[in-house]
Amino acid sequence: MIRHLLAAGDLDASTATRMLDTAGEMASLADREVKKLPTLRGRTVVNLFYEDSTRTRTSFEVAAKRLSADVINFSAKGSSVSKGESLKDTALTLQAMGADAVVIRHSASGAPYRLAQWIRGCVVNAGDGTHEHPTQALLDAYTMRSRLGRLAGLNVAIVGDVLHSRVARSNVALLHTLGAKVTLVAPPTLLPVGVGAWPCATSYDLDATLPDSDVVMMLRVQRERLTAGWRDSFFPSEREYSRRYGLDAARLRRMPDHAIVMHPGPMNRGVEITAEVADSPRSTIVEQVANGVSVRMAVLYLLLGGSS
Ligand code: CP
Repeated sequence: MIRHLLAAGDLDASTATRMLDTAGEMASLADREVKKLPTLRGRTVVNLFYEDSTRTRTSFEVAAKRLSADVINFSAKGSSVSKGESLKDTALTLQAMGADAVVIRHSASGAPYRLAQWIRGCVVNAGDGTHEHPTQALLDAYTMRSRLGRLAGLNVAIVGDVLHSRVARSNVALLHTLGAKVTLVAPPTLLPVGVGAWPCATSYDLDATLPDSDVVMMLRVQRERLTAGWRDSFFPSEREYSRRYGLDAARLRRMPDHAIVMHPGPMNRGVEITAEVADSPRSTIVEQVANGVSVRMAVLYLLLGGSS
């Protein structure tokens, strides 16, 4: 088993499949009255979050607690980071308190790699800048496999702000490894330079892509990264963006009957997805969150030395 989980691109098919299979075993715990395993008793997991999060931070916390680990939640807001303390000094301080694993979210792409050079424990990337979010890709793959029974050969459309999306990068890497076919759908301004070298297809036409898709994964328009002066150069208006790239009930009807709708959250309802679609039975958005706990339990269990 790998020591750190820094990027979905680092996972080979056998390691990724083992993580998904172990997540399946962890999911069976959710149906029990007592949802805890003693596996990580005496181990300490630090959630080191320099960027806001709802789903990832809380699900890592629930996952670690269900495995009986001690959990330290560190948020840069309200810490000595505001006094200028560096990532390295913060990490070494937390290590001195006995961290066995550090789950890090940071706005700088590559921060988890630096951390892995500085500390002795396992490092899990919980989202770094626009680079990667590997546990999101694992929980997305787990959700697809649970709903559709397989990953190999699935047609997965990932739609929207690919340029700023670490979720898209991680999903392209992992789904390619596991045999799915990914098409990135976005306006040309929201596709990264060099996307032609990624192991996926690209399209500017959502309506043409929908009828062949088994999975349609909508991405959040990352308003905070489309800084004020630049915004107009990515697309003319949010209304125009929704008209071309938003998923509404009419577009849902163009998808095959078995196809599912995914979104990593947080959503901009009314921009990339309508409330009607987000809340429809074909949406797996809430299921993705529940699966995130099982997947993160599997990741912590396997990295911290469990066997399955
Ligand atoms: N999907 C995701 O990473 O959500 P949070 O930012 O709430 O963690």
